[in-house]
Amino acid sequence: MSEKNYQEIIVSQCAPQVQMIELNRPKLRNALTTTLLREIAQALAAAEQKDSIKAIVLTGGDKVFAAGADLKEMASLTAVDVLKDQRPAIWRSIYQCKKPIIAAVNGFALGGGCELAMHADIIIAGESAQFGQPEINLGIMPGAGGTQRLIRAVGKSLAMKIVLAGEFIGAEEAKQSGLVAEVTAVEMTIERAIALAKSIASKPSLAVQQAKEVLLQAFESHLQAGIAYERKAFTVLSATEDRNEGIAAFLEKRPPQYKGQ
Ligand code: CAA
Repeated sequence: MSEKNYQEIIVSQCAPQVQMIELNRPKLRNALTTTLLREIAQALAAAEQKDSIKAIVLTGGDKVFAAGADLKEMASLTAVDVLKDQRPAIWRSIYQCKKPIIAAVNGFALGGGCELAMHADIIIAGESAQFGQPEINLGIMPGAGGTQRLIRAVGKSLAMKIVLAGEFIGAEEAKQSGLVAEVTAVEMTIERAIALAKSIASKPSLAVQQAKEVLLQAFESHLQAGIAYERKAFTVLSATEDRNEGIAAFLEKRPPQYKGQ
């Protein structure tokens, strides 16, 4: 059964008490426009209002989770636009969802896509999953909590490698490092996430909600200060020539020429 009309996501009731949110820009590797992110936030807010929904599965489908911020949309933003951007408020609203969210990740979860997966409470990864923060290749850096959540999830050394070198990690490494809870066959990822969501949905919901809140408190003490700091640095980088060159080179399908300016 599918729910209200969204443009860039599909929302459905995938099991009793479990709602599924599926990113739906497959041709563009589910690149995250502001519209898409806002729709996720709206769907979560709507789910929060419904007593009948106890858990949410967030997925990009079988092929790709999300290739990060939509670079076409981002290319035209100046540092002032980034400073005024609505996205931080949208990310905050996603983060504030009180109901448990399970991400089912197949294929690439890059940049904002990896950050979106890390907004979920539990990540189930298919064997094809690749997690990365490749912003460095574009002359920018993660700007939606990636530096803060990744280092908490995988530790300093691996987080530094992923963010500074832009290297991806596969599903098994993500599991070993604590970023994901389980690795499954690709065709089982969504099914397993739904089964886990059903199991959580069957538990006493107030206890689930309180436990989620307290676990996040442990994981995220001082997180908001770190996120504000990250966003300032991300905004400053929006004023560099290298950032314009990095995004332009991606869109024009050519290697970037960086000048350190
Ligand atoms: N934004 C806009 N369009 C994107 C995109 C993105 N992030 N990622 C992919 N696309 C588009 C491509 O331009 C291409 O469009 P056309 O068919 O019109 O040419 C289409 O999706 C398919 O992409 P590819 O041909 O590149 O597909 P692939 O399977 O060979 O590679 C990929 C997939 C490795 C994800 C590659 O597309 C890629 O490297 N994408 C960019 C990843 C990236 O740099 N993400 C970080 C973005 S910045 C960010 O996320 C910051 C933040 O949130 C704060």
